[in-house]
Amino acid sequence: MIKVFPNFEELNLFAAEKFVEIANKAVEEKNRFTVALAGGSTPKSLYQMLSSGDFKNRIDWTRVFFFFGDERNVSPDSEESNFRMAKENLFTPLQIADENILRWQTEIENAEIIAVNYELTIWKFFDDNDESIVSIDDSDFPRFDLILLGLGADGHTASLFPFTDALNEKEKITNANVVEKLHTTRLTLTFPVINNARNVIFLVKGADKAETLQTILQGKFQPEKYPAQTVKLNDGDLFWLIERQAAQFLK
Ligand code: 6PG
Repeated sequence: MIKVFPNFEELNLFAAEKFVEIANKAVEEKNRFTVALAGGSTPKSLYQMLSSGDFKNRIDWTRVFFFFGDERNVSPDSEESNFRMAKENLFTPLQIADENILRWQTEIENAEIIAVNYELTIWKFFDDNDESIVSIDDSDFPRFDLILLGLGADGHTASLFPFTDALNEKEKITNANVVEKLHTTRLTLTFPVINNARNVIFLVKGADKAETLQTILQGKFQPEKYPAQTVKLNDGDLFWLIERQAAQFLK
C-alpha cells in the first residue's frame, strides 16, 4: 500500500494507528509483539506520538519487544546512536523494561562481533519464545511482526547502502556493512529477514527524497543502486507512508 499524506503530522497519526493495530493483533494472537525500529530522524516524532497522548495507553507495552533494524557503530549513549534516539523518545517515556529492549551491543569495539552477537540475540529470543521462524530456500529466518524503515536520499534503507556487500547477504540475518562513502561500518538487518516480516512500514518525508522515491516506486528496477527496491515481502503487508513533499514526483 502506498499512502501520501498532506503533512507529516497526518502521516505520523496514520503510522501510530497502524502500529497500535499490528501490536494489539500480535499480542492477542501470541501475547507478544516483536518490532524492529528504524533509526535516523524521520521516526523520532512517531516515537514521541506513541509514547504520549492517548496512544501510550492503547498498547500493553510489557508485551512489546523492541529490536533495531540497524545501528551506527557508536556507543549506545552517542548522539549518533539509533538506540539513544529510541530511548529518549520511546523507552524512557514509556518506562520500557530493559529485558524488552534487544539492541546491538555497540559498546563492543569490533563491528563483526557486534553483528554476530546480535544475530545470536535475535535467534535466542525467537527460539526461547517459540516465535515464528520461516524457512526460505532451506534457510530459516525469524519473522518480525513489524519492521519500521526509513529511506535515504540515495535509496538506502536500514544500513543497506547502494553497492555495499550487505545487499547480497542471503543467509545471515545481520551484517557489519562497510559503507565507504560514510567512512564507517554500519550494523544492519539483511534483506532476507526484512522480507520475511509480517509487516513493513516505510516512513518517508522531505523533498530531498522525492526523486529517489519516484525511481524506487515507479522507475527501473536497479536494486544495487536503489536498495530499498529489494524490499518485497514474502508473505506480509508493505506500507509506504509518504509525506507530500517526498511524493511530489510520483505519477
Ligand atoms: C539510520 C537509518 C537510516 C535512515 C535513513 C533516513 O540509521 O540512519 O536506519 O536508514 O532511515 O537514512 O534517515 P532520515 O530519517 O534521517 O532522513
